[in-house]
Formats: sequence, C-alpha cells, structure tokens
Amino acid sequence: SNRHNEARGALIVLEGLDRSGKTSQSGRLLSYLAGLGYPVESWRFPDRDTSVGQMISSYLSNQSQLDDHTIHLLFSANRWEKRSLMEAKLKSGTSLIVDRYSYSGVAFSAAKGLDIEWCKAPEVGLLAPDLVAYLDIPPEKAAERGGYGGERYEQLEFQKNVAHHYKMLSDASWKMIDACLPMEDVEKQLKEMVLDCVTSCQKGKSISQLWL
Ligand code: TMP
Repeated sequence: SNRHNEARGALIVLEGLDRSGKTSQSGRLLSYLAGLGYPVESWRFPDRDTSVGQMISSYLSNQSQLDDHTIHLLFSANRWEKRSLMEAKLKSGTSLIVDRYSYSGVAFSAAKGLDIEWCKAPEVGLLAPDLVAYLDIPPEKAAERGGYGGERYEQLEFQKNVAHHYKMLSDASWKMIDACLPMEDVEKQLKEMVLDCVTSCQKGKSISQLWL
C-alpha cells in the first residue's frame, strides 16, 4: 500500500503558565523532528501576524482596552482563522508543534471570572490536539525566572488563578511534565512523547474536534 504518502501529521500542543519554558521547548522539538526527517512546523497562539492577532497584541501590551468577553472571542477567532491551514498541513503530512491553544484561551479568561462553559463554546469544532503536554511549574517559580516581561497577564496572583483553571481543564490524556527539572530533562521527556504521538498519527489515528 501507499501508507507513507497518506500518513498525516500530528497536532502537538504545549501548554503551561507564562515562563514555564514552552517556547524554548517548541524550538527544541522542532529541530528534533526535523532532524529525524519529519515534515514539521512550529506555530504559536496568539498568532500576532494576522489583523486579529495585532488587536490581541495591542491588548496584551496595554495599548488598548477591551471587554473580557471581547478579547476572549478575538483569541478564539485567531485560532479559527488558522483552522483550515492547520487541517491542510496535518492532512499533507506536516506535524505542528503549537505553543498554546484553546486551553490557554479558556484558562486565562476563566481566571478573570468568565463562565468556563461560555469560554469553551467558541472553541467547539477546532481541531483537537493529538497530544497536550503541560509544563507544570509552581506560579512562584515561574515568576522567579528572569521576571515577567510586563505584558498584561504576567502577574503572580493572576497566574495562580490560571494554574487553578488549567488543572480543572486537564484530563487523563494530558501529559504532565515537571517544568522545574533541568531543561534537558524536560526536553528528553517531551521528545519521547512527541515521537510516540507522531508515530501513532502516521499509523492512521484520525483527526478529531474539540470539545470532548
Ligand atoms: P504568549 O506569551 O505565549 O505569546 O501569550 C500571550 C498571553 O496571552 C499569555 O499571557 C497567555 C494569553 N492567552 C490568552 O489569554 N488566551 C489565549 O487564547 C491564548 C492563546 C493566550
């Protein structure tokens, strides 16, 4: 058969608090998979390059004010505008390593006090990740890591609340990684789970949709 040509890519999502190490680890995973010869791209949300993304970026840097519901829907719209490209990439065999996804969307907005079911609703129908790896770090430890960059959500009390909402959203399928370990140990664990995931997607695991 022609299985190799039909093999789809994997949708791999990294989640965690600000300063948990997601961005460094995405870079490492990208080089790792590419080095093994897998077609792979690294994505992130918010994608600040689109016009919706620019509105989000301006909100995050406190250059604009938006109602909590409004910014929530913009984050969601920013994922919807990438959905068809995401699906095309996966179907053509490219794996995607995505730094933040719908879980950030819900955890951050719910931490402001928005209803969790209301927060989940606009995410329904987006592509479901094949792997959610959560970089688990105590909020206090994350805050110590070179300080926060000064964006809107980078405050200890708020991050504690976000952590609480991540825990409520997580299920048994999430891979929890102790993000206090040295970077190389985190990397090693991630590489193993990511390779497993890419392999099972190649073998024909189908693409599903959010939300459970
Ligand atoms: P970043 O630092 O990973 O670029 O993310 C910017 C901030 O936006 C970060 O504090 C998490 C937050 N965020 C949301 O509130 N909702 C979302 O849907 C996403 C993707 C991020």
